[in-house]
Formats: sequence, C-alpha cells, structure tokens
Amino acid sequence: MEKKNIDWSNLGFGYMKTDMRYVSNFKDGKWDDGVLTEDSNIVISECAGVLQYAQTCFEGLKAYTTEDGKIVCFRPDLNADRMIDSAKRLEMPVFPKEKFIDAVVETVKANAAYVPPYGSGATLYIRPYMFGSSPVIGVKPADEYQFRIFTTPVGPYFKGGAKPIVIKVSDFDRAAPNGTGNIKAGLNYAMSLHAIVTAHEEGYAENMYLDPKTRTKVEETGGANFIFITKDNKLVTPKSDSILPSITRRSLVYVAKEYLGMEVEEREVYLDELENFAECGLCGTAAVISPVGKIVDHGKEICLPSGMDEMGEVTKKLYDTLTGIQMGRIEAPKGWIKVIE
Ligand code: PLP
Ligand code: COI
Repeated sequence: MEKKNIDWSNLGFGYMKTDMRYVSNFKDGKWDDGVLTEDSNIVISECAGVLQYAQTCFEGLKAYTTEDGKIVCFRPDLNADRMIDSAKRLEMPVFPKEKFIDAVVETVKANAAYVPPYGSGATLYIRPYMFGSSPVIGVKPADEYQFRIFTTPVGPYFKGGAKPIVIKVSDFDRAAPNGTGNIKAGLNYAMSLHAIVTAHEEGYAENMYLDPKTRTKVEETGGANFIFITKDNKLVTPKSDSILPSITRRSLVYVAKEYLGMEVEEREVYLDELENFAECGLCGTAAVISPVGKIVDHGKEICLPSGMDEMGEVTKKLYDTLTGIQMGRIEAPKGWIKVIE
C-alpha cells in the first residue's frame, strides 16, 4: 500500500481529513452493524441532545508503524472500557467492547496510507466519539445516538516536541467534586477552553489544575495526567477521583516498576511539595510524555532541576521504554499491542 505524500516529520497536532471513517447508529434500543464511509459530514436535528445539553463523550488512541513495518495500536481495550464508563455516566448507551476494537481496526485499515512511517516521529491519532443525535428539549437523555471514529496523522502535541514547557497553576477548576472529571466527556473540555486561552495569552503552554475541593492538591492538565520523579528516582503520580484515568499513566506505572525497577507512589500530591521533585512530565496519548521545566504558581516560580533544555534523565528512560514498546523495539507486556496489519 502506497503512503500518502505528506511531510510526516513536520506535522503538528492538527486535523487532516483522511479517506474513511466509521459510523454506527443506535436506534430503537440497539446499535446497527456500522459502516465505513467517505462522508465526513454529519447531519443531525437542530435539537439533538449533543447540541443542546452536550451529551457527548470521546476517546483518543494512536496507531503506530513498528520497526518491522506492521501497523499496531496500543491497548485499545482500555479505551473501549473507558468509553463504556463515560457512556454510563452520561446516560448514553454502551458501545460494546469487541465492536469498539473491531471498529478501530477497520478504520485504521481503511486509512493505512495515512499511518506515518516508522521513524518519522508522527503517528495516526484515532478519535472514537459518541453523541446524542435525536431531539431533546426537556433536560433528559436522547433516544438515538451515533458512534463514530475518524483518524488524523499527527506530530507532537506541544510545539517543540520534547522541549520542556512552562505551565501555570490555574485559578479555574476543571472538574467538580463528584462531577465528571474521571470520564472523557466533551463538557470537561468545553469548560477548560477559557482557562487554556488565558494561559496561552499569558505565555504558558498548559494549566495545572488543582483539586476542586481544597485547591491544595495537584490534579492534571487539560489533556494529560502528571508524573513526577523524586530526587531518589521514585515515580510519583497523583491519585484522585476527579482526574481522567490515563492509559498512558497506568502503562508508565507498570513500565517503571516492571521494566525499570523503580519504586512508584500513586498518592495525593500537594502543591507545596512540588519544589522537592527532580522532574515533572505530562503523560497522555497526545502528550506521550511532555517534560515540564517550570511551574508558575501566582508569580512563584518552581524550576525543576531537570531544567528547560531537555527531558530529565528518568523521564527520558520512561519515554524511551514506553515508545519502544509502542513501536515494537521492546517486547510488550501481553495484550498491550493490537496488530492491525
Ligand atoms: N487527562 C485528560 C484530561 C485527557 O484528556 C487525557 C487524554 O486522553 C489524559 C489525561 C491522558 O489519557 P490517556 O493516557 O488515556 O490518553
Ligand atoms: C488524548 O491524549 O487522546 C486526548 O484526548 C487529549 C486531548 C487534549 C487531545
């Protein structure tokens, strides 16, 4: 199969329309068989549940070309599970796990020409999503839904790739106590838009959100979980009921323990202990691991000892091992890699 003529190494994190997308409709209490289509437009009622009351959730995962030329994706079963959790919380129908994985495989296969070549630094981002498509005007769940998957080739999420970024402690909250911070609901991202625009205007790459109840503990950013490395090389990552259970973070915890022999602490992380850490990174599908060089808390600068020039040493080891597993250079734990073709 011939690849598209794309300047893979210079891609940013943006949308590029690819050839095919997957669509399945939920009507009369059941999902149809689902199809691949060339049509990238969606026609829905002006009163659709998604348009009126934001009844929508999504997922994000990537397809990679491995060193030996296969196309694979990383732990799609966990994205399927998380979308089930999101759907239940938003009173949407569950899209079955096996159907989700098959749909990912079919959509990637149909867009194989857009999967970036090994070594290009780019990947194919896969975006499954679901929304209420039938009219609702009283506040209640829709009766009909659409599940779709599109793909788009992407480069690094942050400009500069692996260069450390500067982030700020946000005055806005991303999630409410007992709210929807732990699922991938579109509404969580809508409410972070003003905060991210403000942060960008002030020259910061991202926000560090605090726990909404006490505002003393570190939660996550708008699109990634945090990892910290202590001066004695432990991995510390925030534990909270109001952050997204990142698949990358859960994988890194395993990699740190089982591949690198590190000690790992999943616990509450207080804002006032940040100055004790040696390294900090943002982890997620889009972010991979993006190093943080400086955190600014209302004028107080917390400069990580790893500095602003490159990724910290331990973060780099985690990065190399995780991406090594994803790209087939390092043997993966059983069940982590789904071969597509
Ligand atoms: N936190 C938020 C708010 C996110 O949007 C994401 C991205 O999916 C993550 C964390 C990282 O999750 P994952 O590693 O599963 O991509
Ligand atoms: C992802 O990492 O897949 C996300 O959904 C995060 C988003 C900010 C792009």
